[in-house]
Amino acid sequence: MEQRARWSSRMIFLFAAIGSAVGLGNVWRFPYLAYKYGGGAFLVPYLIALFILGVPLLILEFALGQKLQKGAVAAFRSIHHRLGGIGTMAIFSGFVVVVYYAAVMAWALVFFFNSFQAKMPWAGDAKGYFFDHILHISGSVGDVGGINWTLFAALLVVWVLIYLSVRKGVKSVGKVVLVTMPLPIILLLVIFIRGITLDGALSGILFYITPDFSALMSTEIWLAAASQIFFTLSLGFGVMIAYASFNRKDQNITGDAWITALTNSGISLFAGFVVFSVLGYMATTTGVSVGDVVTSGPGLAFVVFPQALALMPLSWLFSALFFLTLLSLGIDSAFSLVEAVDTVIKDRFRDMSTKKIAFGVCLTAFVFGTLFVTHAGLYFLDIVDHFVTNFGLVLVGLFEAIAVGWVYGARRLREYINSVSRWKMGAWWDHLIRYVIPAVLILLLVMQFIKEMEGPYEGYPGWALAIGWSVVVVPLAYGLFVALSRKRLQPQ
Ligand code: PHE
Repeated sequence: MEQRARWSSRMIFLFAAIGSAVGLGNVWRFPYLAYKYGGGAFLVPYLIALFILGVPLLILEFALGQKLQKGAVAAFRSIHHRLGGIGTMAIFSGFVVVVYYAAVMAWALVFFFNSFQAKMPWAGDAKGYFFDHILHISGSVGDVGGINWTLFAALLVVWVLIYLSVRKGVKSVGKVVLVTMPLPIILLLVIFIRGITLDGALSGILFYITPDFSALMSTEIWLAAASQIFFTLSLGFGVMIAYASFNRKDQNITGDAWITALTNSGISLFAGFVVFSVLGYMATTTGVSVGDVVTSGPGLAFVVFPQALALMPLSWLFSALFFLTLLSLGIDSAFSLVEAVDTVIKDRFRDMSTKKIAFGVCLTAFVFGTLFVTHAGLYFLDIVDHFVTNFGLVLVGLFEAIAVGWVYGARRLREYINSVSRWKMGAWWDHLIRYVIPAVLILLLVMQFIKEMEGPYEGYPGWALAIGWSVVVVPLAYGLFVALSRKRLQPQ
């Protein structure tokens, strides 16, 4: 039998894991959440979620992959033959995410090429530029209006890059991450030095960090912190399971998890300083308040930030650097999701060539991705992202904790973890996995569900929200079907 592929060193594995964790979420979601939910006070729920949910689950995912030497589906199937569906749910969610994540990278690519001009083409009307000129956005989600060919071409380029990165599995990934993990960090540092030396930077930063502890009273802040932790650590997608499955069985698991988690959160915090110093500059220059310019997601990265960049001296240079940052942040997160899917397929069909699997997955994702480069693409992206991140991931995390806690045995897995790790965990980890995490995640799902029932998300029509629900419910139904069917599906 063919030997399982291996990372060439522990460091390369860490580069890949950190590369996956550090992505667009660190730059366009974290700073905004921190600002919106009480500035420095947001760190309270964020760190609690990190220590109670994030690190323990990351340790769990690393341990499963490394111990069982399998991707998500086969790993859960070897815990119990009825549980393979948990892995399927995980990679299904991951596949959905990468399909739209690549579309976002396509926007960044178009902006990158449009940066090389004396005057930024979006100067004066960044909003109109993004929505009308780049996206050609339609009036509503029902008005799909054909494909936007510029974005289509950019999406193709992004997929070619992703394919080249995963073509040889961990062999090629291990080389690419040597560049794509450190590059965005260096670029952020460059933009930080520029940002902090601009007028008004300090006022922006004060907006970001000044704590407002009364924000801690709302339930929303806790929901936001928990879902951010899941997304930012790439948990619940089978990514960390797949990546760890290429480790040697005796690698230090708790050490790897702490390094990955702390580096990732450190970069999120730092990205906040970068973003807010630039927003502070823009607010000062245009005479508005930082509170009036800040936003998250596409609005931050493709409207507000470009607008600020256009005001700077050497704006073409810093615009190009910024979009390159987004691209390099995104790519190793994107291909980690593809690698999670590829690993599962390779586990199942060992004789299939890695290249063919990679090609098939990339091509399929590209084809689905065309939905997001139509004129209604942004609406679909918003809907699908909302449902996968708020329900899909959390459900997978819940099932993972139950499967390990109650079926495999938390203590049994912890004994293995402790036998290979320097930092040893006590029985508290078992309690977290068996009781605390399931209870917290169920509470989270219920609260989120109630919020959903209070009114249609962003006022979208029912059929569009049904698409959103289906990316959660279809894999869930499949998982249940696997769990309940009497026949052992695909015995191994
Ligand atoms: N962690 C990445 C981010 O914060 C996103 C991601 C999610 C990547 C899931 C891989 C898997 O942007």
